[in-house]
Amino acid sequence: MKRETVVVIDFGGQYNQLVARRVRECNVYCEIYSYKTELAKIREMNPKGIILTGGPNSCYEEGAATCSPELFELGIPVLGLCYGAQLMMHVLGGKVEKAPVREYGKTEVEVDNSSLLFHDVSARTICWMSHFDYISQVAPGFRVSARTADCPVAAAENPEKNLYAIQFHPEVLHTAEGTKMLSNFVYQVCGCAGDWKMDSFVKQSVEAIRRKVGDGKVLCALSGGVDSSVAAVLLSKAIGSQLTCVFVDQGLLRKKEGDEVEEVFGPNGSYDLNFIRVNAQERFYQKLAGVEEPERKRKIIGEEFIRVFEEEAKKIGAVDFLVQGTIYPDVVESGLGGESAVIKSHHNVGGLPDYVDFKEIIEPLRDLFKDEVRKVGLELGIPEYLVFRQPFPGPGLGIRIIGEVTAEKVRIVQEADAIYREEIAKAGLDQDINQYFAALTNMRSVGVMGDERTYDYAVALRAVKTIDFMTAESAEIPWAVLQTVMNRIINEVKGVNRVFYDLTSKPPGTIEFE
Ligand code: XMP
Repeated sequence: MKRETVVVIDFGGQYNQLVARRVRECNVYCEIYSYKTELAKIREMNPKGIILTGGPNSCYEEGAATCSPELFELGIPVLGLCYGAQLMMHVLGGKVEKAPVREYGKTEVEVDNSSLLFHDVSARTICWMSHFDYISQVAPGFRVSARTADCPVAAAENPEKNLYAIQFHPEVLHTAEGTKMLSNFVYQVCGCAGDWKMDSFVKQSVEAIRRKVGDGKVLCALSGGVDSSVAAVLLSKAIGSQLTCVFVDQGLLRKKEGDEVEEVFGPNGSYDLNFIRVNAQERFYQKLAGVEEPERKRKIIGEEFIRVFEEEAKKIGAVDFLVQGTIYPDVVESGLGGESAVIKSHHNVGGLPDYVDFKEIIEPLRDLFKDEVRKVGLELGIPEYLVFRQPFPGPGLGIRIIGEVTAEKVRIVQEADAIYREEIAKAGLDQDINQYFAALTNMRSVGVMGDERTYDYAVALRAVKTIDFMTAESAEIPWAVLQTVMNRIINEVKGVNRVFYDLTSKPPGTIEFE
């Protein structure tokens, strides 16, 4: 698919993915590449624009991440952000030094509206600053286009060469008119047409899938999560019943989840595909009996999933393609794009099945961020409750039950979690909290109910606010809501006599319990 592209060159800043997402929100497709990427490769991509991200270094230090001066001679517009702005000045003959005052946080900036970048932006606006170096002298040919009280060069530009530098972070939402600035860059400076839209993505993907698959057979492991659901519907739209989806109910799903997935994707649902539900609950419980160690549990669940999936695949026979729900952050985070050092070890349950007979992997969502996957889902008419579902880990409730997993404990955590989710939604908090669930601590304690002594389990409630799931804060839930949840769980869920709320942030805690 040939589409106009802006390239984000990543210098290791914490907001690298955010830059790309914001550009895409402007309907311009954008990809992230490490600063080590060869110039020839960038030239070959023929991007409409290049954005240099922030980074942790000082650009004047030896060994700091850098770029070739030729990057600025390609005739392609370049926008440098924070470190990227300093690097642009440094490489082109300006001066960057340690700032007398470190600027951090929301700051008022005065911008020159005659700059294309600040077209239609308020003359005084709020921006997000985070830097300890500053541009003390702009490079020859540049002029200053924005300043703050502490920062004489908050932005600079050489419009004849289409080179722009911004010291602050327009990609961060704290920069009130940041999206406008990025939009100005891609439209006014780069002359993009804005062809990245989810309806055209669907149309183009459907065509591309049809071309690729021909009359071949495709197999998809459907979990009911957002990514695999959207991938499955996209494929169904393209190739209909050439697609077979295998849904494994491992007995570690949320309450009623298995039936909900079947309702949407099964024979009575609205999609043209072959749906196979495997009820493997007992098989998983047997494998997990007596196992307490979290990593072993994860491994057993992952491996058993693969075995079950393989058995089903064998029944179907050889297929041509296997669908993977890989999305763009997975690609970036596994080191294939950008500078990100973080490699997620846990995100897909247990790797690829060894014995499934397929020729090729098909990854229809590989270019999309999560919010784009959701937009595609809506575009495809998938029910909203599936599209806006919170993340659910591959090992499911298996890692929300501390210690040994049994059918009885699964029932307890399913019931408690369903009550918790219901009350959070009733209180109108579900859109504000990024992930929330009940877990079963392996702790039993003494209580009293009526006149009876009880010796039952304690349920822990977790709710976090996070942007990237790498760090998180526990959410502040009104006391009255927590009390309702507590009362209902203790009254309605047999086997529970105590409810805790988990205040731990990540780090030091993780979001899940195991
Ligand atoms: P942690 O517990 O690592 O969770 O703070 C971060 C995010 O990742 C999800 N998570 C998983 N997702 N397979 C998954 O697909 C897993 O094994 C897994 N473990 C954690 C977790 O729900 C949270 O959103």
